[in-house]
Amino acid sequence: MDAPLVKTEVRGRVALLTLNRPQALNALSNEVIDQLAQAMRDFDADENIGAMVLTGSDKAFAAGADIAAMQGWSYMDVYKQDYLGGNWESLKHIRKPIIAAVAGYALGGGCELAMLCDFIIAAENARFGQPEIKLGVIPGYGGTQRLPRAISKAKAMDLVLTARMMDANEAERAGLVSRVVPLERMLDEAIEAATIIASMSLPSVIMAKECVNMAYEGSLNETLMFERRNFHALFATDDQKEGMKAFVEKRKPDFKHQ
Ligand code: CAA
Repeated sequence: MDAPLVKTEVRGRVALLTLNRPQALNALSNEVIDQLAQAMRDFDADENIGAMVLTGSDKAFAAGADIAAMQGWSYMDVYKQDYLGGNWESLKHIRKPIIAAVAGYALGGGCELAMLCDFIIAAENARFGQPEIKLGVIPGYGGTQRLPRAISKAKAMDLVLTARMMDANEAERAGLVSRVVPLERMLDEAIEAATIIASMSLPSVIMAKECVNMAYEGSLNETLMFERRNFHALFATDDQKEGMKAFVEKRKPDFKHQ
């Protein structure tokens, strides 16, 4: 039997979910997201669980959506499957708190997945970024919408347009990350925080999460849809084909700007 793409473990009232595709730096294929969404829905429904921690490996929380899978897709392919809708979108409906424990790369969809969690505890080696522009596309899972809300328009524009990465300390100063801790401490720190949350009254925890999100997410549904449709539209360009092909072939892209 194949190893699960998302490993799960229960520690007291805390569920620990670990992305488990190390050979591809936890690239988020549809299969990874399907398994993640299923596991989160199951823990959300489990009355013995009060909070969740989502983590990756020491090298990568997740290096983004799966470029190898996406490279050949057309506009119609991504539009018809509503790519990054479906199970990706369903993650935002999980009611129990989710802490992202991030070490290493959190790039593209990986940064977006961390931002979808309720807060981020980062290891000192964490690096955040939205490098999609280098592939001839844009963030497709909330990066252009959640990043400006989390870290200001100036820094979001900087990251989204230049594709540069932000280290853990810059991410904390910018407000993306709630705590930065040494790598060897990261998981314990996240599980301890989740254990505290899970010891609180579950209805008040869920309502607190809903209320904070209400302050934060006004009109996000429309803007996420807007982003997704533009992400889809970029699959109609030659530069998306070139950008993703070049990544897979390990060379610099030769963009034609069309
Ligand atoms: N998709 C598919 N495979 C990926 C991947 C991705 N996002 N990121 C890394 N991998 C694979 C590599 O192809 C490589 O596979 P092979 O060993 O089979 O060649 C393996 O993971 C290890 O990666 P590297 O050899 O590149 O490792 P590195 O340490 O030299 O570099 C890195 C690390 C800087 C993170 C580099 O892997 C990288 O730039 N990855 C892509 C980051 C990216 O562009 N993310 C955005 C994706 S698009 C997106 O996410 C859209 C959206 O908004 C949802």
